[in-house]
Amino acid sequence: MATIKAAILGFGTVGQGIYHILNEKREELKNKLGLELEVAKILVTDTSRERVPGTQHLMTDNMAEILEEDGLQVVFEAIVNEEPAYTYLKQAIENKCHVITANKVMFAKHGLKLQALAKEYGVFVGYEATTAGGVPVIKTMKNILLVNDVSRIQGILNGTSNYILTKMRAEGWAFEDALKEAQRLGYAEADPYNDVSGQDAFKKIMILSALAFGEQPDWDDVEVIGIDRISAEQVKLATEKGMRYRHVAEVEKREDGTIFAKVGPMLVDAEHPLYPVDDVNNAVALETNYIGTLSLVGPGAGMYPTASVMVEDYAEIIGKRAGFVVRI
Ligand SMILES: NC(=O)c1ccc[n+]([C@@H]2O[C@H](COP(=O)([O-])OP(=O)(O)OC[C@H]3O[C@@H](n4cnc5c(N)ncnc54)[C@H](OP(=O)(O)O)[C@@H]3O)[C@@H](O)[C@H]2O)c1
Repeated sequence: MATIKAAILGFGTVGQGIYHILNEKREELKNKLGLELEVAKILVTDTSRERVPGTQHLMTDNMAEILEEDGLQVVFEAIVNEEPAYTYLKQAIENKCHVITANKVMFAKHGLKLQALAKEYGVFVGYEATTAGGVPVIKTMKNILLVNDVSRIQGILNGTSNYILTKMRAEGWAFEDALKEAQRLGYAEADPYNDVSGQDAFKKIMILSALAFGEQPDWDDVEVIGIDRISAEQVKLATEKGMRYRHVAEVEKREDGTIFAKVGPMLVDAEHPLYPVDDVNNAVALETNYIGTLSLVGPGAGMYPTASVMVEDYAEIIGKRAGFVVRI
């Protein structure tokens, strides 16, 4: 029986989710496709802590050991920050491994380079999980772009900000109180800067820009405004006028060919596709020439939504090689 060997870089929320899903699907894969799936190695910084029972022997803190693994075919990346993630994925691609990442900070900056390198080496880069978690925006856009042009993308791309704005409206809370509740529920990090400042949404809209237009605007030209200056009073006034504050990341290709992007609070009325999107949900509205406006809504983060789209990327790779659609 053919064996597919995988490595997981990072064994926190997302890495563990991938491990659980791959394990749960192992028997099905064997029965349906005659494939044996093996998680051969897991990269962490601290190998002394057993996160999931029975995985201690797979842990390493040395990427070289992963690259030396005989017959390794796919690398799932769920670590944090630009480096060493970018270098590791470059090395994996040069080793002819498919790579699948959830790391938007790294991918926003290096995604186009990694995809060019992957093309050269004949491997696949999966990055559905970098943007809007469980919402299949990347694969939907790839499909749409086969025929349509996308002229503008507007998205609620940070669940924490959306939760805070929802609570400010529905409960009348101040920003600080809504943030505290988001932290208590585990939606916001102890340091919520990236979420509430708009930096997280900015990285994701840059990834979508690269996909839709093949390029990004100059990052220095993009205005990025967070939600921390919005008062409970402003939210109340908007509600009285039938409007809602949404934190929107958008990018558009203008008629002169320039790419324009911005991230910030926006007042939307009931006609707007992002108006009904509440709580931690993410949403993306795509303006296209033939379909018109298409909206996708769903969970933007979390262990299983994120890990599951990464495993879907993986199924797509196996399917491409097998010549048919594979349901893992
Ligand atoms: N959490 C979500 O819902 C979500 C959703 C979409 C995308 N993402 C993205 O997915 C990635 C992982 O997120 P997470 O929430 O799973 O993070 P996490 O829980 O903090 O886990 C990060 C893991 O990466 C390991 N790690 C960090 N730096 C490393 C390095 N230099 N070398 C080796 N291992 C390293 C850590 O090792 P130790 O365990 O030894 O510290 C840890 O196991 C991030 O890029 C994040 O932006 C997360």
